[in-house]
Amino acid sequence: MTPELMAQGAKALATHRAAVAKQQDNTESGGHAANYSRMHTPGEVDVTHGRILYLEDVSVSFDGFKAINKLSLDIASGELRCIIGPNGAGKTTMMDIITGKTRPDEGRVFFGSTIDLLRHTEPQIAQLGIGRKFQKPTVFEQLTVFENLELALKTHKGVKASMLFRLDSTQSDRLAEMLHTIHLSANVNAQAGTLSHGQKQWLEIGMLLMQDPKLLLLDEPVAGMTDAETERTAELFLSLKGKHSLMVVEHDMSFIKTISEIVTVLCDGAVLAQGTLDQVQADERVIEVYLGR
Ligand SMILES: Nc1ncnc2c1ncn2[C@@H]1O[C@H](COP(=O)(O)OP(=O)(O)OP(=O)(O)O)[C@@H](O)[C@H]1O
Ligand SMILES: [Mg+2]
Repeated sequence: MTPELMAQGAKALATHRAAVAKQQDNTESGGHAANYSRMHTPGEVDVTHGRILYLEDVSVSFDGFKAINKLSLDIASGELRCIIGPNGAGKTTMMDIITGKTRPDEGRVFFGSTIDLLRHTEPQIAQLGIGRKFQKPTVFEQLTVFENLELALKTHKGVKASMLFRLDSTQSDRLAEMLHTIHLSANVNAQAGTLSHGQKQWLEIGMLLMQDPKLLLLDEPVAGMTDAETERTAELFLSLKGKHSLMVVEHDMSFIKTISEIVTVLCDGAVLAQGTLDQVQADERVIEVYLGR
């Protein structure tokens, strides 16, 4: 997506909003149309033209080695995008760039059509609504499942607010719902350290979800899981689709087959192929560099 396209999208959005404002006497703002032309409101991601993430011509080198090489990619709002590719293709590095951990040498990275992620720090990007799950589970082993989820709510509020923090009834309901979603209702009082590897992964995903991220990046979420855990994780991700946008990096092809719509194949830091899993698996270039190994 180029800035020109984004400008067009913003223009179309302004026209659309003006038309909607005309139709509605009672808008949320009490009928005021004054804000309809604004480009970006803090806390909001402008996805009116359907895209939550854009990367354009992004490159990064480590000691002269181009780990990401003119990578362009975009993801629809509510989409569950799968990313595959051989070891060293640049999948994790791409996530590092999106989350602000690594700064690219060149290119553009936008969250919605108005938020330039390259102008934000790693904590700011998390606050904007991009959650990230690293491969290794990072839960607080000494705390219970409940306390881990509660902590996720607290830390999102900032230090001062978290000291005064008490769960209100809405939050208690949300926490109970989350326990159900991540299949840990029966383990609510168990110490996180006693959970299986798969359960720890679910708990961490639950902690991320408590912060209601708009975009969730998951790096090899089912690595090390049992078949049953992998199946449940597939169900979980499918249930998140639409409510959140997800980018899932995985090597497990049967998992990808279960959850995927569009699959992007990365190789040598760029997109090699994109389409359904069947389409990319039939692509000669993909077979050569990746699946044929
Ligand atoms: N901080 C760094 N310093 C130097 N080289 C790096 C750094 N981060 C990544 N690389 C290199 O960049 C390339 C891409 O690595 P990356 O971890 O992104 O691949 P990947 O697609 O996630 O691979 P895998 O499937 O094995 O996880 C690799 O050759 C890696 O060694
Ligand atoms: Mg990786």
